[in-house]
Amino acid sequence: MTKTFKIAVLPGDGIGTEIVAEAVKVLEAVTEQTGHSFEISYGRIGGCAIDEDGTPLPEATVQICKDADAVLLGAVGGPKWDNNPGHLRPETGLLGIRKALGLFANLRPATMHKSLVEASSLKPEVVSGVDLMVVRELTGGIYFGEKKRYTDENGQDTAEDLLIYREDEVERIIRSAFDIARKRNKRLVSVDKANVLESSRLWRKVAERVGADYPDVELTHQLVDSCAMQLVRAPKQFDVIVTENMFGDILSDEAAMLTGSIGMLSSASLAEGSFGLYEPVHGSAPDIAGKGIANPLATILSVAMMLRYSLNLDEEAGRIENAVWAVLDAGHRTGDLTDDRSKALGTVEMGQLVREEMKKQFVSK
Ligand code: IPM
Ligand code: MG
Repeated sequence: MTKTFKIAVLPGDGIGTEIVAEAVKVLEAVTEQTGHSFEISYGRIGGCAIDEDGTPLPEATVQICKDADAVLLGAVGGPKWDNNPGHLRPETGLLGIRKALGLFANLRPATMHKSLVEASSLKPEVVSGVDLMVVRELTGGIYFGEKKRYTDENGQDTAEDLLIYREDEVERIIRSAFDIARKRNKRLVSVDKANVLESSRLWRKVAERVGADYPDVELTHQLVDSCAMQLVRAPKQFDVIVTENMFGDILSDEAAMLTGSIGMLSSASLAEGSFGLYEPVHGSAPDIAGKGIANPLATILSVAMMLRYSLNLDEEAGRIENAVWAVLDAGHRTGDLTDDRSKALGTVEMGQLVREEMKKQFVSK
């Protein structure tokens, strides 16, 4: 039986429009092959929304997302809005949508594909075979605590950002991470700074308590500085990493670079249930926006995650992923993946190759 899914698409700023266009064409290819259809509603977020609607997150956008089965997002931000006050920054739109949709679990897989080993800045023997998942808490912690700016009694310009976590917020993300580890290699590293931060001591206590419900998963704890070091020293030791919002922001960029290019990494931000928002980990790359050279693969792989986690279309998700790997195995590269400029493909060409490969895989099944 074929189904109709409602997808909210928020291209955002910079290269967002170009890469999302290729991802939408991949959805169209899925329709051709399966008959499942995708009803797409477009919304604005970030800088383009500031320009058009006077706010980085228009209410209409939130509504489109709430009415959808899943959300596909490009990227937000750019130099044009960098000096705006906080409430008129593109990033505020991104944080707002995470909060408005309750997207507390951010999954950022970092998988080293064999044909990209040379693209990593680390030695091949260190990175080949890396396959890890960072599970980042996304709606709490210092990102969302109260912020203050004032002049203190000595006349000093002073700023405060409150880092606050409640037990239930920690518990639900730790549970998500255990559930994911259970489906992978059953090893979970909980990352904190429990030697200094009270919030981390709470985090560790909750992780231990929840761990008792998952005797089949090995739970260990690492301090965030040590984890940052281990990620570049011996990344293959990791299966699933779970951590609070800001540590996860930093460690997920580090993990992404192990795999050669941040241009390859997809992510899912999940709410309770199956609803989720899917976006590439890389940003809006304003320096290359509009040139047609951005790598669309992270966004295309985000579509695969969407099919798997929100729409229950595992087979189609696998077909998209296999198509991406096959295109890379055949030696095709966008500029971020090769030093040889003469070989670099454009965004549209790369998208086209992936769709052709999907078709081949579909026919040969
Ligand atoms: C990310 C980004 C965002 C974050 C920024 C753009 C607000 O770096 O998704 O990792 O810090 O969460
Ligand atoms: Mg980040």
